[in-house]
Amino acid sequence: MKIKAQSDAVACIILAAGKGTRMKSKLPKVMHEVARKPMLLHVVDTALALKPQTVAVVTSPDMTSVRNALERQYKDKVANAIQQEQRGTGDAVKAAKAALKDVTGTVLILYGDTPLIRTETLASMAALLKKNSKLGLVVLGMEIDMPNDYGRLILDKNSNVERIVEARDATAKEKAVTLCNSGVMAVRANLLFSLLGKLTNKNAKNEYYLTDIVALARKEGHSCGMIKTDSLELLGVNSRAELACAEANMQRRLRKKAMENGATFIDPASVFLACDTKLGQDVVVHPHVVFGPGVEVADNVEIRSFCHLEGAKVYEGAIIGPFARLRPGAVIGESAHVGNFVEIKQAMLERGAKANHLSYIGDANVGEGANIGAGTITCNYDGYAKHRTVIGNNAFIGSNTALVAPVIIGDGAVIGAGSTISEDVEPDALAIARAPQKQKSGWAKSFRNRKNN
Ligand code: UD1
Ligand code: MG
Repeated sequence: MKIKAQSDAVACIILAAGKGTRMKSKLPKVMHEVARKPMLLHVVDTALALKPQTVAVVTSPDMTSVRNALERQYKDKVANAIQQEQRGTGDAVKAAKAALKDVTGTVLILYGDTPLIRTETLASMAALLKKNSKLGLVVLGMEIDMPNDYGRLILDKNSNVERIVEARDATAKEKAVTLCNSGVMAVRANLLFSLLGKLTNKNAKNEYYLTDIVALARKEGHSCGMIKTDSLELLGVNSRAELACAEANMQRRLRKKAMENGATFIDPASVFLACDTKLGQDVVVHPHVVFGPGVEVADNVEIRSFCHLEGAKVYEGAIIGPFARLRPGAVIGESAHVGNFVEIKQAMLERGAKANHLSYIGDANVGEGANIGAGTITCNYDGYAKHRTVIGNNAFIGSNTALVAPVIIGDGAVIGAGSTISEDVEPDALAIARAPQKQKSGWAKSFRNRKNN
């Protein structure tokens, strides 16, 4: 069945071409990450959740890395628009006109540096515009005690938005206003493009401000609606300090959601999640745990303190940590245990397997119920290529064993502690590869006597 595009169609323009000079970074501002995902991709995902007709992202000509990231992630779901010169937010929206083609409904304008914006908020703006034909546009406002650089929403005597004034252009009286512009707008498409043609750059920055369309719309007899929402959601990131603020807010949101879904966090503030972290029911996360991207944890898993997980999958009932590191490709089977100072990469620990202390398991398969002794190392890299280690079910690897890959340890085999194993071991065999012990009776005593006299 063909899904009908929502009529009263909505299109989204996401502005991302700004230089972001205040970040002092070689990376384009919108590619800085929040909860391990570039800010811009947060905004694109939020926009796509509205099922819009089009999402167009405006970048500057040199932002090839941004366009490549969009292409990789979204293929043709996102249209590219290029703003030749960064002449302000109004000019940037103009640059997206061609990408919007035949859009006649509502255009939502978002900023790539506002990563916490929620789909519900955008939907409510579009709904308000649809409901009230007197409105030409709807802006999204927020109350901020110390508004610094934010544009201020100036209301008329009927409390309708009359215009937006940028902080740099504001009088002292206007600066005292705490009702701020988040930057997000919903505008009727035809009105938007006709007003953009009327913008001037007579202001402190000599830029074409999108915000000026409010006063222009009023002049033409349209009203400007406003929705107010929580300022935390609308935080615009211009500096590293604001990036840290966005991160903190996103973390709070992610932790809350994980707890609502049935995970226990003993100290939520010390657990860091990636935006795609998946935690099952009755997962218990102890203090000081960091989740990188791509982690999936099934029900009833316990993650003890000071663990770092990234690109890992953990099955039901497993116990991880304290002090464990799961790197990409780690798969921890049902009820398996990974203990302190154990690093696992591209390796599967099957059901009930245990690696409890001080080990590196890389490019390996550890069979069901196998026991990996303290200090076991899979020597997977010869300086050129990676090689696999296969450990059979219920095998027992003695402490301080080096397994020189490629190597296969059969089911039920036992490896003597301190061995360097470079040849395959057959099932149920004992392999010991260490220098035989010598004993000299009475040597220690006579040594002491010699030294003490
Ligand atoms: C803008 C608003 C301000 C609002 C604030 C909220 C204007 C004139 N001002 O100010 O009222 O309070 O956001 O965060 O709109 N961009 C381009 N091309 C350009 C300039 C900017 O694509 O030529 C993009 C940037 O990449 C960014 C967004 O537009 O994603 C906002 O630009 P920024 O310079 O951060 O505007 P603010 O000064 O924060
Ligand atoms: Mg900004």
